[in-house]
Amino acid sequence: MTKLLPKNFVLGGATAAYQAEGATKEDGKGKVAWDDFLEKQGRFKADPASDFYHRYPEDLELCEKFGVDGIRISIAWSRIFPNGNDQEPNPLGVKFYHDLFKECHKRQVEPYVTLHHFDTPDTLHKEGDFLNLDTVEAFARYADFCFKEYEGEVTKWFTFNEVWPVSSCQYLTGTFPPGIRFDYSKVVQSMHNIMLAHARALNLFKEKGYAGQCGIIHSLETKYPYNRDSIDDQRAAELADTLSNKFLLDATFLGEYQEATWNNIQEILRSNDAHIEVPYEDIVEMKQAASQLDYLGINQYQSSFFRSYKGDNDIHHNGTGEKGTSVFKLKGVGEAMFDMAIPRTDWDWLIYPKGLYDMIMRVKNDYRNYKEIFITENGMGYKDDFEDGVINDTPRIEYIKQHLEAVSDAIRDGANVNGYFLWSLMDVFSWSNGYNKRYGLFYVDFESQQRYPKQSAYWWKELHQTRELK
Ligand code: BG6
Repeated sequence: MTKLLPKNFVLGGATAAYQAEGATKEDGKGKVAWDDFLEKQGRFKADPASDFYHRYPEDLELCEKFGVDGIRISIAWSRIFPNGNDQEPNPLGVKFYHDLFKECHKRQVEPYVTLHHFDTPDTLHKEGDFLNLDTVEAFARYADFCFKEYEGEVTKWFTFNEVWPVSSCQYLTGTFPPGIRFDYSKVVQSMHNIMLAHARALNLFKEKGYAGQCGIIHSLETKYPYNRDSIDDQRAAELADTLSNKFLLDATFLGEYQEATWNNIQEILRSNDAHIEVPYEDIVEMKQAASQLDYLGINQYQSSFFRSYKGDNDIHHNGTGEKGTSVFKLKGVGEAMFDMAIPRTDWDWLIYPKGLYDMIMRVKNDYRNYKEIFITENGMGYKDDFEDGVINDTPRIEYIKQHLEAVSDAIRDGANVNGYFLWSLMDVFSWSNGYNKRYGLFYVDFESQQRYPKQSAYWWKELHQTRELK
């Protein structure tokens, strides 16, 4: 039977400043750590990305034409405060976002705005990024500035995009600057400190009574035991889940870590000679924020299956799209399995829509104070072929359809999910894959910056009109 989406369900497209805007040195923008990191690697550059900085009117026109009624945008902190901490904001950076939001409203595309999407200003990054509590304070100031400056233009805010991926890529896999590997103290401390920064910003938002709503986005991949009947595999999945999901869900909805969560985290830290500090005052701030959160954004692309593993840390990130090259073995946690009877992308991301359904229902059932959920990212990285102006991305259409069906099932079963944002609106730059991994509804020729609707864009347009998942 054809499944349906509710009439007012937001069908949106997602972008992020550093991945879409380009113009990394324009109009007084400050540096971010990525600028040097990418240059040193020499694999690819973040300029011009999708040149959104100059072409956003065209992209918003496409949204209007193809039934994209919301757009996720992130503000580049270093466009507003080039050193992260400046007293005076950069007027050209501030103006850029005013102009952008104005255009969104002209096209009736609602902006959903994230304050931090992996791009801490370089000066703060060099001083320890979110391991340094000065960054927490600087973030709250920057957030407060944006809430005030764009009040009336933006009503949907998110503090952070993906706390686990940013912390683990910085300090576990080393794929994000500063490129440190296997430092569990830093991974978990950074996650906690980011949750503190989120709490401080959200509390300010509520205290000052800004119009609108504010939440946070987590990457929540459901973890399953590889062998369902094995107690050891079940334990591996539980530990992996605590590290990347439960620790953050507890912080978000409870403002503290439940006993089982804390014990599991301590076990993982001990196995890796690591430790973290969580002062009581942090919990006070986090609890206050937890009681005021408006919504949760869930990003999910894949699920993972964990097997018990007793060896050392060993990770190989598949950043090229060569299927079968991923390795993810965590000491004291478990080993993620990739070679399974489940379809996966060329980047070894397991396509498992049930994982999205299970995660939504878990939030609904385990965190009873949740109010609303948006699926803020989901999509399929693919090496799209451009043939005679036609981009036939049937696997992507199937992927989106299956995941929206999972969302529709969760709504049927009582979850309050009100929107889905496809990653990505148009093809953008990918942090560790560059330009060969495409996700967009709109194909971008990165040389000419021309946009072309893919087959998925036409499918989407029809979905927007009918709400039927066909
Ligand atoms: C999410 C991020 O983790 O995944 C995006 O929020 C990112 O910024 C997306 O681009 C897809 O990841 P990747 O590595 O395939 O670009």
